[in-house]
Amino acid sequence: MATAKIVIDPSFIVAPVNRNLFGSFVEHLGRCVYTGIYEPDHPTADTDGFRGDVLDLVKELGVSTIRYPGGNFVSGYKWEDGVGPKEDRPRRLDLAWHSLETNEIGLDEFSTWVDKAGSELMLAINLGTRGVEEALDILDYSNIKSGTALSDARIANGHPEPHAVTMWCLGNEMDGPWQLGHRSAEDYGKIASQTARALRQVDPSLKLIACGSSNPRMPSFGSWERTVLEHTYEDVDYISCHAYYEESDGDLGSFLASGTNMDSFIDSVVATIDHVKAELRSERTVNISFDEWNVWYNKRYHAVDKITDPQEWPIAPRLLEDVYTVADAVVVGGLLISLLRHADRVTAASLAQLVNVIAPIMTEPAGDAWRQTIFYPFAQASKHAQGDVLRLNITSETYETKVYGEVDLVDGVATHDTATRTTSVFLVNRNSTGESTVVIDAGDLAQNANFSFTTLADTDVYAQNTLNDQNRVVPVQNDKIVVEGSEIRVTLPAVSWSVLVIS
Ligand code: AHR
Repeated sequence: MATAKIVIDPSFIVAPVNRNLFGSFVEHLGRCVYTGIYEPDHPTADTDGFRGDVLDLVKELGVSTIRYPGGNFVSGYKWEDGVGPKEDRPRRLDLAWHSLETNEIGLDEFSTWVDKAGSELMLAINLGTRGVEEALDILDYSNIKSGTALSDARIANGHPEPHAVTMWCLGNEMDGPWQLGHRSAEDYGKIASQTARALRQVDPSLKLIACGSSNPRMPSFGSWERTVLEHTYEDVDYISCHAYYEESDGDLGSFLASGTNMDSFIDSVVATIDHVKAELRSERTVNISFDEWNVWYNKRYHAVDKITDPQEWPIAPRLLEDVYTVADAVVVGGLLISLLRHADRVTAASLAQLVNVIAPIMTEPAGDAWRQTIFYPFAQASKHAQGDVLRLNITSETYETKVYGEVDLVDGVATHDTATRTTSVFLVNRNSTGESTVVIDAGDLAQNANFSFTTLADTDVYAQNTLNDQNRVVPVQNDKIVVEGSEIRVTLPAVSWSVLVIS
């Protein structure tokens, strides 16, 4: 008996695969920047001080856009501190993470690093402690070719070419009381609209992102989006979504179903966007930038006391260095499936974050860099999701979860590239007690095709990759695949992520 049946039809197209779905996020937080991407004394460091081992892994991960410099950090950040001669850069208190910021890395260096990574810079503007004027200044410094005081300053700082940043986040999580400069939806909507209009006077082609809710559990979720969009609808291209998931109280079943929560979160925000569109009789369609998503053991972080005395705030402390398990990787796979399934309305996304801080890549100062378990679903999806996203017809057995009720045991999404005649199927098995068998009706796609089938799983769902055991969890070839005519039968181990490529 099959646990699930899936019908793939290449004509059921959701939307083209958008490369911007495979973005990530680098914040001045903990060791993401310092000893993460930047460590001048590291044996692999290049002449700019960037770790070569980390750059190689970032390229392998396949990251499109990279959001910078925060996060909570940006709401107290003065971007000017991070440009010009390094010896003149001030040290500042970072109130978001109770750390000391040296400003050794700033906009110019980070832009250089993003170029080396083959990615695209996405900048967040401080709308916490600052406003329209600073937003215009950073745009001028970053994007104007020459001939203004700020663009000429960039050139004098050794960057003759503009950074050409097109995606701009108008603040970060401004609904959150923890945010410096936290505002009401009304007040944020007004400042976001004014900032957007000012930036668009300089360059109407910029892609602008208004802050949505920090997470769907916020008391103002829904009304925040509506009010902010009523002020900004004609001025922005995206509203942001942020969501982090963790296993609570040993409830693995609900945790593995996190993708269903992301599905309904996205559906609610899309409904709110379209409500405002109708209300305003607008011709435009605003989409979603899901620019922070991941597994984050947030409760563990909040259980640790912050250092209160600013005299004691450290430089680049070990913060949010979650070590991920197989179960976490399966959840990340499920979240990727949810993002792809909504590719018609989620047109940008950023895995938060990239290195050391709730990250797919870990480093030791002066030591190794390695791939966490969650590295693999992201890297495989980024590599194999090509062409168009397909809407799958899935019929699955279900299981009961404490948080989300009845949930499918098997979930998946597929992409199809007509140019290369390649179909990729991404699958998660949420069954924690055993294998699931999936029968895929692939029609003509299975005729005379080659199949590659890999799975990430472990007998211990909490197995991890660590400094001393870096390759405990890796995707391996799965031989449990039988093809008969148009029917492909695959077996998925308990708590697993799998990728089937039909070419
Ligand atoms: O990614 C960690 C933090 O989570 C970010 O700084 C903030 O935007 C969010 O609350």
